[in-house]
Amino acid sequence: MNLNELKKSLSKLPLGDIRYFDTIGSTNDEALAWAANDTPDLSVVIADEQTAGRGRLDRKWFTPKGTALAFSIVLRPTPEERPHLTRIVGLAALAVAESLRERGLDARIKWPNDVLIQNRKVCGILIESVWSGEDIDCVVIGIGVNVSQGSVPPEEMLQFPATSLEAELGQAPDRGEIVRDILAALIGLRPNIGTDEFLKQWEDLLALRGETVQVETEKTPPVMGQISGLESDGSLKIRNEHGEFVTVRFGDVRLRPLA
Ligand code: ATP
Ligand code: BTN
Repeated sequence: MNLNELKKSLSKLPLGDIRYFDTIGSTNDEALAWAANDTPDLSVVIADEQTAGRGRLDRKWFTPKGTALAFSIVLRPTPEERPHLTRIVGLAALAVAESLRERGLDARIKWPNDVLIQNRKVCGILIESVWSGEDIDCVVIGIGVNVSQGSVPPEEMLQFPATSLEAELGQAPDRGEIVRDILAALIGLRPNIGTDEFLKQWEDLLALRGETVQVETEKTPPVMGQISGLESDGSLKIRNEHGEFVTVRFGDVRLRPLA
């Protein structure tokens, strides 16, 4: 990835500042530090390689040089968006899924933070917040997309099957175009974040809908049942084996199809 080409590709979008790194620990760490220093809304940190890419609970996110997209967006919520901050993970996941669907891929959202193609993980999303006292000052949206097959970790590192855009499309697409499309989709969806239509769009793209799944959390016994949809705050609604509806909130939740 070349900074000039990247800037050209992103030049038509109403972004804040852009920082590009050939190599970095984690784009989320950089964006969090930058956000604490008043960087404008929709500033983007993007890197060709991450040496300490993170998933939830500090799990490792594999980003070898030249193979993947790893970027983080600083979002400064408007007063209208503030009541809907729990929907930001949906905003990011929908932006990724819709931009991949535009390329003919059947991309779906594995709630809460992954995008799958044919039930394989092609993208992970990590949302982190910068606090100012008791309020969220801004949100960092970290997005990792497996572009060429070299970005897919070895089987033994995976707890869920993974894929890349190269494997799904037959060739690796241009990373600048993918990041541009995702950012454009996010900017386009953002004004609708509080609407019922947004929730419906998110719900319509949920992976494993209607299938029996197991949801594991650290604290409670696993919930088994079928994904029935989303609550207004973006929590997952499961219909359990007794026909009761159980709400699964965000946190360390692992969703697995029942083999
Ligand atoms: P899972 O993805 O197993 O359902 P999760 O979404 O809770 O669980 P996260 O912390 O969100 O897990 O993601 C981190 C996990 O993703 C790592 O533990 C690793 O198994 C897997 N992983 C790491 N790098 C990649 C990658 N480039 N592509 C796909 N999966 C990856
Ligand atoms: C997950 O599935 O657990 C989320 C993975 C998020 C990875 C992205 S890559 C860009 C940003 N920087 C990070 O360190 N993590 C996110």
